[in-house]
Amino acid sequence: MERTRFEMIRKLALTAAAALALTGPAAVASEGGHTEDVAFSFEGPFGTYDQHQLQRGLQIYTEVCASCHGLKYVPIRTLADEGGPGLTEEQVRAYAEQFEVYDPELDDTRPAKPSDHFPPSSLDNAPDLSLMAKARKGFSGPKGLLVNQILRGLGGPEHIYSILTGYTGETKDVAGTTFYENTAFSTGWIAMPPPLAGEDVEFADGSSNELEAEAKDVAAFLMWTAEPKMMDRKKAGFVGVLMLTVLTVLLYLTNKRLWAPHKGKKQA
Ligand code: HEC
Repeated sequence: MERTRFEMIRKLALTAAAALALTGPAAVASEGGHTEDVAFSFEGPFGTYDQHQLQRGLQIYTEVCASCHGLKYVPIRTLADEGGPGLTEEQVRAYAEQFEVYDPELDDTRPAKPSDHFPPSSLDNAPDLSLMAKARKGFSGPKGLLVNQILRGLGGPEHIYSILTGYTGETKDVAGTTFYENTAFSTGWIAMPPPLAGEDVEFADGSSNELEAEAKDVAAFLMWTAEPKMMDRKKAGFVGVLMLTVLTVLLYLTNKRLWAPHKGKKQA
């Protein structure tokens, strides 16, 4: 009797572990290249985005990356959302106006409004960055499963950080295109010229604009564009675990109570 119950619990635990392992990491394609581990404020079950960091990242994106890359899935108005960069409505309106968007109703371009999305990439071979932090993963292998990734994430923002800081300075020309050696890029040679060198932007709050600091800020911002509701998801998950815990305790107590009269009696 004890034996079979133990067997059942073991099987259940194994099934649960397998189900967990399948939902996360396995769905993301593995990237080659070296990934630096970076400690981000939003890691771990209780991590949250750092509003000032997201604002700095937005500034870097706008002043540097936006000349080639787009964020076409991100509505500009979300910059005012709670848990995000937290701009005021006024700031969002002013921010939007710097972009020209095509309006099919006017059949012409006009300054963007908060209800518009960020423009798409202007350079054909520069990928849209809206979801890049979730499309790439930096951590893999057996240690990349479960616990490791609950604590450190899949490594998407780390991959972006590593790309931005991974240039060796070597270049090569292939059929008229220049490639730049990059230790984080899957093939080792990337078509993006080094976008950051340090001191590319000036922050109003006097934060560091060294290369590593800038790379970290813009990677955090791109994690937010890819998963703006991460905090809500973590909160929901936490409440779920809490409720399951309470339910487990209740079931245990009920079980004990139901069987109490029959325990200890020897079946004759
Ligand atoms: C001069 C244009 C240009 C600028 C400016 C630029 N990029 Fe890129 N970026 C590219 C191109 C082109 C690619 C595609 C490279 C390839 O596939 O070889 C790319 C690819 C990427 C990738 C994908 C790497 C991968 O693993 O596939 C990321 C992430 C990225 N850029 C981030 C940024 C960030 C962040 C900035 C601003 C700090 C930036 N880029 C600025 C042109 C640019």
